[in-house]
Amino acid sequence: MGVFMREEIIAVLRSIVGDGEPIELSVPEAEIFGHYSTNWALRAAKARGVVPLELAKEYAAKIADAAPAGFFHKVEAAAPGFINFWLSNGTIQERFARVARDRVFGGSDAGKGKTVIVEYSQPNIAKKMHVGHMRTTIIGDALANILACSGWRVIRWNYLGDWGTQFGKLIAAYKMWGDRGVVKKDPIVELQKLYVRFHEEMKADPALEERGREEFRKLEEGDRENRKLWDWFKSESLSEFRKMYQTLDVDFDIWIGESFFERDMKPTVQLLVDKGIAERSADGGIVVTLDDVGLPPALIEKSDGASLYLTRDIANLRYRLSKYKPSRILYVVGNEQTLHFEQLFAIARKLGLADADLVHIKYGLVLGERGKKLSTREGTAEMLDDLVNDAIVKARELIEAKNPDLPESEKTEVAFAVAMGALKYNDLKENRTTDIVFNWEKMLDFAGDSGPYLQYTYARLKSVLRKAEDARLNAKFRPADAAELAHAAELALARKLFEFPDAVRRAGELYATSQLAVYLHQLAVAANKFYETTPILKDDNAVRRRARLALAATTARALQKGVGLLGIKTLEKI
Ligand code: ARG
Repeated sequence: MGVFMREEIIAVLRSIVGDGEPIELSVPEAEIFGHYSTNWALRAAKARGVVPLELAKEYAAKIADAAPAGFFHKVEAAAPGFINFWLSNGTIQERFARVARDRVFGGSDAGKGKTVIVEYSQPNIAKKMHVGHMRTTIIGDALANILACSGWRVIRWNYLGDWGTQFGKLIAAYKMWGDRGVVKKDPIVELQKLYVRFHEEMKADPALEERGREEFRKLEEGDRENRKLWDWFKSESLSEFRKMYQTLDVDFDIWIGESFFERDMKPTVQLLVDKGIAERSADGGIVVTLDDVGLPPALIEKSDGASLYLTRDIANLRYRLSKYKPSRILYVVGNEQTLHFEQLFAIARKLGLADADLVHIKYGLVLGERGKKLSTREGTAEMLDDLVNDAIVKARELIEAKNPDLPESEKTEVAFAVAMGALKYNDLKENRTTDIVFNWEKMLDFAGDSGPYLQYTYARLKSVLRKAEDARLNAKFRPADAAELAHAAELALARKLFEFPDAVRRAGELYATSQLAVYLHQLAVAANKFYETTPILKDDNAVRRRARLALAATTARALQKGVGLLGIKTLEKI
C-alpha cells in the first residue's frame, strides 16, 4: 500500500509510549508549528501527574532517537505540551518519489473483505425530485465512491418511495379526472397536479378520503386495473429519474423500493408480536413500546390493518441482512427523519438484528440565497431540474465571459461540467448536518472555495504537462530526481500530497465528505502556489525539470481522483 505518513509517525510514537493511550496527530495550519503535531503529552501528563511540557520535552528527545536516522528534520516540544514534528527534506523527497509512481494512490484497504450498503436518493414516484433529493443523491454517491476506494464492497441502493396510501389517492384522482394523453406529455407534473387536486377537493368532500383508502386496498389486493395504473405511474417516474441520474452522473446497483416489501408486512408484524416486542394498543393498532430507550411508541400497523413506512423499513432491513450480510448500512436521509431511524434501529436491536452498524447519515436543508427555507407548500420550491438548469445557465454565462473564443461545443461541455462541479462541491464541502446555502457567485468563483476552482487548478496543471509534451520535455521521472525538490512551495506541495490517502480514509470513516473536499481545496491552494512561484518548463536543469513535472503530474492525478470521488469531472481545458 501507498504512503500513509501519519501512520508512520504514529507508529514511531507508539513504539515508545506503548499501547493503550490514544494518539492523535494533526497537520498544523502553519509550518512553524510543525509539519505534524500531537497533543498526546497533554493528555498523558494528566494521568501521570506530571507537567505536560516536561513530558513533551522528554518524549520529543526519545522520539528523535527512536526514528530512523534522517527521518525527521527536528522534533520539538512546545507549550503547553505539544510535540511537533518536521520531516527532513530527504524524507519528503523519498516519499514523493514513491507516491509519484504509485498507481493506486489514494486508496486503502480499510474496508477489505467487508460489505456496506449505501442507501441514497430514494425519490418518491409520481412526485418531482426536489432539492433535498439532490443532497441525498450527491452525498450518497460520494460516500459510496469513497468507501469503495477504501476497499469496501459497496452496494448502492435506491430505495424508491413507491408504496403507501398516497397511491390509492392518486389512483382515485386519476380515475375521476385523469387523461392518459395529458399525463403522457409531462407525467410527473400531471400526476402531482392530480394528487394536489385530490387533497383540495377532499376538504369539501371528506368522503374522498375513503375512496382513496378503497383504491389502495384494491391495489394491495392485486386488483388488475389499479396494479396496471401503478405500474404505469412507476415506469413513467423512473424514466424521468433516470434522466436526472444521467445528468448528475450517479448510478445504483439495486432499485428495490418500498413496494417490494408489501408481501412481508403481515409476517413482520407477526414476528414482532410473537417475540413480545409489539402489542395491540387500545385503539386497535399495533405498536412497539420504546420507553426503555427513551423513544415514543412506534406504530407498525394501523387499526384498519394498513401497513406503514416504518414496517416496510423493518422488513427491508431483515432482507438486506440475510441476503447481503453487510457489516454496515448507511441510510442517507435528511435530519427531519431522525426519529424514524432512531425507532427503526431500536426495534432492530430488540429483534437482535444489530450485528451490522446501522447509521443514519443525516443532512441539513437547502436554503435559498437569503437563507430562507425552500418549501413546496409555499410554491417557492426549487425543483431539482430547475436548479440544475439554473446552474448550467449561470456557468454558461461565466464561460462566455471568461473564454469567448472557445468553440461552441466545448463551451457547452465546459459549462455543464463546471455547473455540476459547483453544485456538488457546494454540498460536499460542508459539514453534512448543517444547512447549505445557495450563493451562485461563490459557488462559481474560479478563485474561491469552489468546485470550479479545483477544476481550474487541474486544467492549469494539465496545460503545463501538455506544453512539456509538445516541447518534448516530458522525459520519464526517475526516483533520484526527487532530490532536486528543495523550494518551500515544492516541499509543501509534496507534503500535502502525502495526506491524500488519509483524507480519503478519514472521509469514509467519519462519513464526512467535507474531510476530502477541504483537503482537495488545500491541495489546490498548494498547487497554485507551486505553479505561480516555481519555473517548470523554463528551468534549464533537466533533472529538476523532470522532478517538477512529476510533481505537477502527481498533483493533477490526485486532484482528478479526489474530485472524481466527489462525483466531479475534471476538464483538460477551461
Ligand atoms: N422516500 C423517502 C422520502 O423521500 C425517503 C426514504 C428513506 N429511506 C428509508 N429507508 N426510509 O422521504
